[in-house]
Amino acid sequence: MIKTDITKMFGIKYPIFSAPMGPFFTRDLALAVSEAGGLGVLSNVNIVGTDPVEEHKKSIEYMIEHTDKPFGINFLTSRNNPGVKAMIRNIPRIVMGNVRMRDQCKYWLTSAGSSKLLPASKYFQELRANSEVKHFHVAPSVGLAQKCIDANVDGIVVTGTEGGGHQSYERVSTLVLLQQINKYFPNLPKIACGGFATGESLVAALSLGADAVAMGSRFIASKESEFHDDYKSLIPPGSPQDTGLYTGAFGPIRLYKNKYALSHPAPSSKEEMIAYEESMSPEQRAKDLGAYDRVYSGDMETGAVLLGQSIGIIDSIDGVNEIIEKIMKDAENTIRKNTAMLK
Ligand SMILES: Cc1cc2nc3c(=O)[nH]c(=O)nc-3n(C[C@H](O)[C@H](O)[C@H](O)COP(=O)(O)O)c2cc1C
Repeated sequence: MIKTDITKMFGIKYPIFSAPMGPFFTRDLALAVSEAGGLGVLSNVNIVGTDPVEEHKKSIEYMIEHTDKPFGINFLTSRNNPGVKAMIRNIPRIVMGNVRMRDQCKYWLTSAGSSKLLPASKYFQELRANSEVKHFHVAPSVGLAQKCIDANVDGIVVTGTEGGGHQSYERVSTLVLLQQINKYFPNLPKIACGGFATGESLVAALSLGADAVAMGSRFIASKESEFHDDYKSLIPPGSPQDTGLYTGAFGPIRLYKNKYALSHPAPSSKEEMIAYEESMSPEQRAKDLGAYDRVYSGDMETGAVLLGQSIGIIDSIDGVNEIIEKIMKDAENTIRKNTAMLK
């Protein structure tokens, strides 16, 4: 058995988390991951026509109805995220009022915006003081990790540029970022994210100071994930080169190279990316958001297909339990093999 500070912190069997994947639904995926001994994370759902507060509430209710294991929830704290203030105000209050929600919904992950927004909520402060709830934030650079510490987080998710979906302007690989962050903040609980799909890579993350890994693309390619079958079927034949960093309404994003991605610029510098974003009209932004709805209903050409470079090492679509058990078995074997190198 591999035990880490994070498995102890959340009372979970394995140091494996599912990454949040909004605006899409990940209820069944989160449930399967928590049931398999990892920690499943509910996404900030924002498919057009949905109310994000209602969706978060329904997601949490779904989890407590189907499992007694711990799980997590994500809030995109970007100013551009519709409903963010209402979510931050209402969800902690709802969770506080329900014992099972309070006991099980333990991992509160904020991302893509300020790490200070959630801790500023008085209901969240009350919840944190009266439960085992922990606040983590996604940190794609040393500077942002420091901001998370200033916001008094319980831990960070260290996400490098090879990951799928929205990424930072910094474009540092998970390998280098983990070493950097571990050097400056050795005692801060860390979840490594971006590029993980195997037991060997879990051991690498633990060796570099992480206490767990979070995976997005690996779990999209699972039987339980709610993603369209055509989305999943891009993954086993895919290679890292099939993805690229593009820019759009919410900053840099790693996408599968389809018609939608290729119709967006892939600027080489942070300044160029910001200039492009600022040049977008409200109409263009609204049009871009439609690309998520299209992909959700199966349009793999003009929809935004968010995937990471790790698709190049995923060979099959498997059950979540099978994925997690194999990763843990391979991780333990890798540790044994590495230990045998000591003479
Ligand atoms: C389809 C998709 C949607 C995503 N949506 C979110 C999101 O809503 N919030 C967030 O913090 N990260 C989001 N991400 C990033 C993931 O949480 C995670 O960082 C990434 O998947 C890690 O890389 P991997 O795909 O190689 O595992 C998304 C990624 C994907 C693939």
